[in-house]
This record gives sequence, C-alpha cells and structure tokens, in this order.
Amino acid sequence: MSKRRSIAIDGPSGAGKSTLARALARSLGYLYVDTGAIYRTVGLQAFRNGIDPENGDAVVALLPGLDIGLGYGEDGVQRMYLNGEDVSQVIRQHEISRYASCVSALPEVRSFLLDRQRQLAREHDVVMDGRDIGTVVLPQADVKIFLTATPEARARRRWLELQDRGEQAQFDTVLRDVKERDQRDANRSTAPLRQAEDAILADTTELDLDQSLALLIQIVKERLQA
Ligand code: DC
Repeated sequence: MSKRRSIAIDGPSGAGKSTLARALARSLGYLYVDTGAIYRTVGLQAFRNGIDPENGDAVVALLPGLDIGLGYGEDGVQRMYLNGEDVSQVIRQHEISRYASCVSALPEVRSFLLDRQRQLAREHDVVMDGRDIGTVVLPQADVKIFLTATPEARARRRWLELQDRGEQAQFDTVLRDVKERDQRDANRSTAPLRQAEDAILADTTELDLDQSLALLIQIVKERLQA
C-alpha cells in the first residue's frame, strides 16, 4: 500500500477548523476526521451519567464501558455513535463543549483515543483537525496548519452558529466561554494546544470562508509539491 497522505489542522475553537477542514478534505478527495467530535462524545457520556467533568477519577472510570463508534454517512459526513445511538447533533450543544474540554485534559482519555485516530490515518488519506494533531497524533503529517483568529472573531462565529441553531446565548457569555476554553486547552499538561514547530500559521480573523479555504488550498499545494 502506498504511503497515506495526512494533513493536520490544529487551532483554538471557533477558528473555522471543522468547516475548512471538511471543505479541504472534499476538494482533495481525502477523509475528514473531526477529533473534537470524539472528545465531545466522551464528554456527553459524562454529562449523561451526571458526572462532574472536572472529576477525573469518575470520568476515567467511564472509559472501560465506553462504546464510541465513528462512521460516515452516505453524504460523506462523519457521524458519532455512543452505545449505538447517533449523537452527532447532541454533541454540538453548548453545554457539551465544556464537558469535552474538561475530559480532554485527562491523559487517560487522550491515550484511550490516540490509537483510534492514528489508525484512521494509516488506512486513509486524511485531513484531521483538533488541538494536538500536528504535535502528538500525527507528528509526521505531510502538511501541518495552525489555524487561528482573535477570540472576538471566533466568539462571534460561534454565537452566529448557535443562533442559526435556535440556541439562545449572550455574546458576552460565548466570548467568556471561548476564552475559558482557550485557557484550559492551552494550559493543560497533556498535549496542550500549541503550534507545532513545522506548522504554518493561518490567521482567518480578516478572511471569510472562501478566502480562508483558498489560503489553505494554496498552503497544501505548495507543501505537497515541495
Ligand atoms: O474542536 P471542538 O470544539 O469540537 O473540540 C472539543 C474539545 O475537545 C475542545 O475543548 C478541545 C478538545 N480537543 C482536544 O483536546 N484535542 C483534540 N484533538 C480535539 C479536541
């Protein structure tokens, strides 16, 4: 089997990672892997069990019984399953973001999920997005991109997204949550959010979606040809 190609996209929440990574994968004919969705599914299990997500021991105790499935619908969109139930929508709820961020800080949770993520990259050409893809999961990725934007720009996008889904939220609350999550994701001791040394920085603060996608395609083409 020829070597698989992999593109790692990391960055803080709301930088446009999922939308852009999905569009990039489509344009390249690669599989898109949203690793945040996997952490969200673990967070959802904690939430449903009434577990305080900051209680590491209780979260870790859930892992042996955790049945997480990752599949792709006929539309090619990634789906997450928890104990056989399609939870792809539920895990997007605002409350679950905090749970995902807390459980993802636990080394046991990260190592529990690591091999599954690597396996996907062994079997497919992938665009994989997350926080530690270029640094930990796929350090040999062919292209690494660190996608970011100011907290205000990211909070605004998240707020519009929530409104679109009919969820009520105050902008200030969303901004506070974005900053809180940045803080937690960047300061945890295991696999903190940081730019890999060989990653290319892409700042989308001033760019719309089409411009951001054009930038990513240009970066990938240049890197793959180099
Ligand atoms: O990308 P997202 O917002 O769906 O991610 C949810 C949480 O999961 C986020 O707070 C950080 C965490 N996460 C992580 O620690 N490592 C990843 N590779 C992906 C997500």
